[in-house]
Amino acid sequence: MPATFNSIAAATHTIHIGDNIPSLLSSFLKKHKFSSIFILVDENTLQHCLPSLIGQVKQLAEAELIELESGESHKTLDTCIGVWQALTELGADRKSLLINLGGGVITDMGGFIASAYKRGIAFINLPTTLLAQIDASAGGKTGVDLDGLKNQIGFFADPMALFIYPPFLKTLPERELNSGYAEALKHGLITDRAYWEKLCFLLPTDESAWEEIVAESVRIKLRFTETDKRESGNRKKLNFGHTIGHAVESFFLEQNQTSLLHGEAIAIGMICESFLSSKLTGLPAEELEEIGQVLMNRYKPVELDSLNDHRLIELMQHDKKNSGKNINFTLLTQIGESVIDQQTNPAEIIVALNYYRSLVHSMNHKNLHGT
Ligand SMILES: NC(=O)c1ccc[n+]([C@@H]2O[C@H](COP(=O)([O-])OP(=O)(O)OC[C@H]3O[C@@H](n4cnc5c(N)ncnc54)[C@H](O)[C@@H]3O)[C@@H](O)[C@H]2O)c1
Ligand SMILES: [Zn+2]
Repeated sequence: MPATFNSIAAATHTIHIGDNIPSLLSSFLKKHKFSSIFILVDENTLQHCLPSLIGQVKQLAEAELIELESGESHKTLDTCIGVWQALTELGADRKSLLINLGGGVITDMGGFIASAYKRGIAFINLPTTLLAQIDASAGGKTGVDLDGLKNQIGFFADPMALFIYPPFLKTLPERELNSGYAEALKHGLITDRAYWEKLCFLLPTDESAWEEIVAESVRIKLRFTETDKRESGNRKKLNFGHTIGHAVESFFLEQNQTSLLHGEAIAIGMICESFLSSKLTGLPAEELEEIGQVLMNRYKPVELDSLNDHRLIELMQHDKKNSGKNINFTLLTQIGESVIDQQTNPAEIIVALNYYRSLVHSMNHKNLHGT
């Protein structure tokens, strides 16, 4: 596949995808003369991704490393303050470059840190998880959580360039690959039935498909983000599964239950919101069943205690995507077609959560009794 095949031009920067990333990055650094280079990593990307990168891009030998602890619970302003202090001590100036080498936590937080430091320094993203490669690192949303509320503080800010290197995924645990895959499945559900079907036949561990999936998903994402940067219209389609999914994710975070990954929460959200779609926007019953089957087979069933429904609804009411008191949803009219700005009441949302519970129940029953 020629290298140019997967260079995608966004309005303010270029997105490069492929095995030739190290040499492209080298040329990029040669062309732009930065006064100093900082690389933001967590302990896993430090171990698994940095050595091969530094081995292939010699300009990075002198770069300063800033290491953060991995995990969503560290995606906070406190962590950012630590990095701003480190940048100051290490003499970062307006012509410095920050390289975000990590998953969505690092690219979201690194973009935010760079955009606020001295009113903004250049940053580039080198996403290392499937989720960050197909979703988090593109589209210009940066930020951190506040008091457990997801992405409550942040900017819209684009990297100077985005370098997506699929071989980084080789060391990613299968569960993380599966989590990222949920966003690709979402892309199929909201806009492209053929892509959904293709994804249903593939496995997230299928290395030969990574580059193609990443390129396809990034193209779909950009189609929405480039025409609606600030999410006043069609970009909201990308939020399918995220109204309920983010509430579930936030709930697990505030309970200090770290056992649920972003994509796993979104898979729950997509099942519940498909149920709402069948009630409100005409998603056919057989398609609801199809979505439920695919997602329940790929994501572990999660017990959601109904005693927490009130809190889940409260979290949905805090969602940034709402206007006023209404809880806003993107729903499906069929697989591959979606509509934005749909609203419903808490009672109906609880029925949707109960639909998910019924699938969990029958799955557990099947596993127990083998039928
Ligand atoms: N900005 C956006 O548009 C957007 C979109 C979707 C998600 N997000 C955000 O992305 C975050 C989730 O991203 P994530 O799933 O990448 O999480 P993450 O950054 O926490 O990475 C997941 C885990 O994988 C490890 N890891 C990363 N790369 C690795 C590699 N190559 N080999 C081995 N281990 C590796 C990390 O250290 C971490 O433990 C959430 O905070 C979410 O809100 C943002
Ligand atoms: Zn997401």
